[in-house]
Amino acid sequence: MRHIYSGKVRDVYELDRLAPKRLLMVATDRVSAFDVVMNETVQAKGQILTAMSCFWMENTADIVPNHLVEKFPSSGAMGEDFPEEFLGRAVIAAEAEMVELECIVRGYLAGSAFKEYNLSSTVHGKTLDSGMLLASRLDEPLFCPSVKNHLGHDENISIEAAKGLFGATLVERLGELSLAIYRRGAQIARDAGIILADTKFEFGYVDGEIVLCDEVLTPDSSRFWKSASYVPGSEPVQYDKQPLRNYLERTGWDKTPPPPNIPPEVLASLSQRYREVYEMITGSDIALWVADAAQATSTARSDVGD
Ligand SMILES: Nc1ncnc2c1ncn2[C@@H]1O[C@H](COP(=O)(O)OP(=O)(O)OP(=O)(O)O)[C@@H](O)[C@H]1O
Ligand SMILES: [Mg+2]
Repeated sequence: MRHIYSGKVRDVYELDRLAPKRLLMVATDRVSAFDVVMNETVQAKGQILTAMSCFWMENTADIVPNHLVEKFPSSGAMGEDFPEEFLGRAVIAAEAEMVELECIVRGYLAGSAFKEYNLSSTVHGKTLDSGMLLASRLDEPLFCPSVKNHLGHDENISIEAAKGLFGATLVERLGELSLAIYRRGAQIARDAGIILADTKFEFGYVDGEIVLCDEVLTPDSSRFWKSASYVPGSEPVQYDKQPLRNYLERTGWDKTPPPPNIPPEVLASLSQRYREVYEMITGSDIALWVADAAQATSTARSDVGD
């Protein structure tokens, strides 16, 4: 396999030399905060991200097609040489021509949106009611596109500006799809006792068709809050990297590499949170997912001799 890219979390390999290409996308246990990758890893994180993205892609496939080709790479070229360490964390995806627009949907007031609201009573330029609090629910979920700036950081752009860059038809379509997937995700999460506060989607073209790509509704791409303790005006209990961010803020680190070392108890609490939100939403244990992946791979291995 040819290694073609490593992002903050994923390593990407090419399975075909000619188009249409399939990619092997491997979610590692790497963890980043403030766009910097830490020195340590979070146990089982990559498997949880992979399993969760597959769960959501299966549960939104009636809204939009996605890039998933095989969730357990088990056939053809992959079966025999499949590295043990990829188990449960590698999927085969159709290579897409990515639309370089981060499709963010916000259903609640948090993070940079809360900062913007405090400064100007707006979110993504839209004026909201006065008197909203941290974590308040928005009347309607909002599509808040952003692009990566020259430093690689996300920067909000207005829907008008996005239309100027990508065309009105495409931006309107991505907005509709993003809101529809958000609503579906929020509904399923709500039934599991979790609030989906906000999230980010990425889309691309495969065979001229818009396809949902990358990771979907994971703790790395979304804010998940525990419904039971949710009180607008107070910091929600979050199932994401918040303990890591809090730790890093306390160290006074300037957010440029190299990052400080992260204590084992912070890493363990992160792993625990990823597990918990996976179990709540899917009703299943990540160990079962890994066992299914092992089963699929070993079946493929024994097929080779047939
Ligand atoms: N089907 C696909 N075809 C091509 N590229 C994809 C596909 N799905 C996801 N990607 C891209 O693969 C990369 C996944 O790696 P990872 O999530 O680690 O990157 P990242 O650190 O978020 O990187 P970036 O800063 O480029 O977004 C992302 O750049 C994403 O846009
Ligand atoms: Mg990414």
